[in-house]
Amino acid sequence: MTQDELKALVGQAALQYVTPGEIVGVGTGSTVNKFIDALASMREQIRGAVSSSEASTARLKSLGIPVFEANAVEELSVYIDGADEIDARGFMVKGGGAALTREKIVAAQSRRFVCIADESKLVQALGAFPLPVEVIPMAAARLMRQFAALGGVAKIRLKDGIPLVTDNGQHILDVTGLRITEPLAFESQVNQWPGVVTVGVFAHQKAHVCLLGTPNGVKTLNF
Ligand code: 5RP
Repeated sequence: MTQDELKALVGQAALQYVTPGEIVGVGTGSTVNKFIDALASMREQIRGAVSSSEASTARLKSLGIPVFEANAVEELSVYIDGADEIDARGFMVKGGGAALTREKIVAAQSRRFVCIADESKLVQALGAFPLPVEVIPMAAARLMRQFAALGGVAKIRLKDGIPLVTDNGQHILDVTGLRITEPLAFESQVNQWPGVVTVGVFAHQKAHVCLLGTPNGVKTLNF
């Protein structure tokens, strides 16, 4: 099975976590795109979605799924999103699609985080994938030095040769060379640094379930 087929498999499997009559939290990325496409088949049964990016909002709307502002909804029962890395405890690295801030916001207002991923995303320790960090541009150089002091190498993410601008008007640092053995402590530490908007470690907003696409079918991990 190709990686794309594995993503479609878990995108479809995630429908079982969608409760008819409710609003669903929707993440961002190529795996979530498969979920959104599958969700269109339940369009008449759900009230709509809270989205974590302009890209997911556009896809949801194009399929006729109403999108609600996060502020208009108090609590969601489920948030469905992908990950760049997930470990055996449900801790994740996210932000490969630059949507980490809104993803963490929607995850925080959801009772359950269901991660959908192909099996290549399951890791022993977080940190092989470059860690995305959304930052206020004027703090970027100092934050790069702070990551260097931890042994990391931070680079500003570029798009078409210039710094990528997120949906929130900020920049992304991608940090390599870190081995994140204490995700909860690491997330809290980096969150304290002035100029950090969101660090792509999702430990406080970890996954409760992971639907992992494997050649033998969908494997469900509960954390
Ligand atoms: C976007 C994300 C995505 O969930 C993550 O990058 C995984 O993406 P994909 O499903 O395309 O592999 O965090 O900010």
